[in-house]
Amino acid sequence: MSINSQLSPETMEEIKKTRDNLHKARHLPGYFYTSDEIFQLEMDKILMREWLCVGRVEEYEKNGDYQAFRIANEPVVVCRGQDGQIRAFRNLCQHRGVEVAVGKGNRKLFVCRYHAWSYDTLGNLKAAPHSEQVQNFDFKSCGLPKLNLATWGGYIFINFNPNCPSLNDCLDEDGVREFAAFLQPEKTRLSHKFEFEVPCNWKFVPENLMDMYHVGVIHKSSFGAHFPVEHFRYNLIGRGYNAVYEALTMAPNGVTLFEPMPWLKNKVGDKFGCTTWVRPTMNIFGRHDLIQPWVATPITPNQTRVTIYTQLPEEFFEMPGFAEKNQIYGDFIELVATEDLAMLESLQNGVNSRGYTPGPTVNLERAIHHLLNYYIDKLLDDDQTNRKLRIDQGQKYLAEGDKIYPDPIDAGYSKSFGEISQSQGSQ
Ligand code: FES
Ligand SMILES: [Fe+2]
Repeated sequence: MSINSQLSPETMEEIKKTRDNLHKARHLPGYFYTSDEIFQLEMDKILMREWLCVGRVEEYEKNGDYQAFRIANEPVVVCRGQDGQIRAFRNLCQHRGVEVAVGKGNRKLFVCRYHAWSYDTLGNLKAAPHSEQVQNFDFKSCGLPKLNLATWGGYIFINFNPNCPSLNDCLDEDGVREFAAFLQPEKTRLSHKFEFEVPCNWKFVPENLMDMYHVGVIHKSSFGAHFPVEHFRYNLIGRGYNAVYEALTMAPNGVTLFEPMPWLKNKVGDKFGCTTWVRPTMNIFGRHDLIQPWVATPITPNQTRVTIYTQLPEEFFEMPGFAEKNQIYGDFIELVATEDLAMLESLQNGVNSRGYTPGPTVNLERAIHHLLNYYIDKLLDDDQTNRKLRIDQGQKYLAEGDKIYPDPIDAGYSKSFGEISQSQGSQ
């Protein structure tokens, strides 16, 4: 199915505007956030092809720990098998397709609620009442279909495409592993998880999280009061981007209640922020004392689940007063999310309006422009158009910046981060 045959000539013209240079470009037509046809194309071209983050390994500590969820209409179960290995399966009973695993918990056996077919934690069918009546019934071929699963930094990713490139290759195309290595997410543990549904299209979530334009406005009372937007520089790389910037931690008034993460001690100061997009549905944020990824999970064109993970170093969990401090951090990110949620709802309402016209993009929307074009590239099966140009222009913009923060890797974790002052906040 080609997008060209789906869209009116008028809409194809509108896409051209999104594909123009940043300072001439327009945001995407509203149709792209509301249409069922576009959502199905996204499933075919993006969501069923790319690696999608679905959680942290420490959420599956014991053998038999599992979580069941849906990505759009696709039911999935992730489970640590009795052999200790974490796997993902299509959560589809091989009898009539009912979801075998429900919610989350710990099981040795998943018994389908409908007619009691039973599967072990490795996905093998172990029992199927009355199956002796079926000619040549083959238990071995009736296991839960396995999905590709890989981990990086303690994050679990799945991929619905059996022939997908490796997770590492995909992350490396956008420089994610190289950029985020210094954060050492594998040495942290999940300290808080906040999950909510928002009535908006999934693309608005990553767009909102790479939009530094809104931080000093909607978040002015929480963390954005003194956001130094004039200093923010997006580093476009591959189909993704990353940034290092000046920011206090994600706690009330930006005041840290913890130490820096041990591996960042004396390497970054307390006004350190960084972010990277892990296409297509994950944005990771780092501070000197925490890591905080947001993950969007599409439900329908107009409904998305958002999960915000907060991770802290293992050793923090043993500190005196940890539970209270962790609660304060948790409450704060929930407050920030509530501010975003109101905007996400309103964005969706806006694109549904018959009077909606996409507006222009500005420098602080450079990453959104890059994302929208990645997205159009994918839908059009046109993976190269303008990508190099956008990146070259982005690098030129970086080079022309009045104040460039050193890359933490190149700079050997420059201590200068601690000396940047006056401003706070970004997420
Ligand atoms: S649908 Fe699961 S046992 Fe029939
Ligand atoms: Fe926000």
